[in-house]
Parts: sequence; structure tokens; C-alpha cells
Amino acid sequence: MAVYQVLKLPDETLRTRCAAVTKINDGILRVLDNMRDTLYAEQGLGLAAPQIGIPKRLIVIDTGEQYIELINPEIIEREGEKTSTEGCLSVPGIIGRVPRSLYVKVRGLNRHGKEVVMEGTELLAKAFQHEIDHLDGILFIDRAIEIKREG
Ligand code: CO
Repeated sequence: MAVYQVLKLPDETLRTRCAAVTKINDGILRVLDNMRDTLYAEQGLGLAAPQIGIPKRLIVIDTGEQYIELINPEIIEREGEKTSTEGCLSVPGIIGRVPRSLYVKVRGLNRHGKEVVMEGTELLAKAFQHEIDHLDGILFIDRAIEIKREG
């Protein structure tokens, strides 16, 4: 088990457009395992690889229903809109109201290199959009219509 330090703004890696994973090797699997450990240690809902200093297209999510890890995830369908509150481990102390699609369909690879398609609504849809944004260097504060200090 290894827990990474989560990078915070203004770290440049958070603003990087991450590279696609071209080969799923032991190094990538180890990063995924450590991202899971870090997610649970930090009690986050999701984590993207650039947040731990690795500019590759990897995300992990657990909104309380199931653990999800995806390699090279992309949104292939979206529907509806909902504005709700978001925060981010990389932007501590700040929350914002962010408009997101209410439903998304996401395609990516699992750790065995098999293509998987997943759907999410509400909180899971929000988590997919937030984490996939990280892979393009986009943070929730870029999309927020209102930002304030937490608490
Ligand atoms: Co985040």
C-alpha cells in the first residue's frame, strides 16, 4: 500500500493535458493501486493521475456504491443539466457551484485492457465529469458559476 501526496494548486501538473496510456504494464497497475489507496486515505470521491503528479489518463472513483477505475476514459454521451456543489482535493478550502450534465456515458479500458462502457447519473455523473476534466488540466473552479470558501 502506498499513499501519494495529492498536489495542490498552483502545481503545474494540474494544468497539464495528460497523455493516453498506450500500454498497460506493471507500472500503470501499480499507479492505479496507489491511486485507490490515496483516494481512500484522503476520503475523496475520485482522483485523477495528474493530482498525484502523473500526467497520464487514469481515474479512480468511489461515490459509495462501487469502486471504479478507468484508463483513457472519455465521455461519449451526455444528457440533462444539474448545477451542484463541488470541491477538489487539489483545491483545498474552496467549494463551487458547477453546472454539469445530469447523465453521462463513459468509455474506457479496465486494468485488463478490455473496453468498458459505464453510465452514471447525479453524483456519479458529476464524478466522471470532474475526474475526466482533470485529465485535460481543467479544474472545477474553471467551470464554477459561484465560488466560495468552505465552512
Ligand atoms: Co478534483
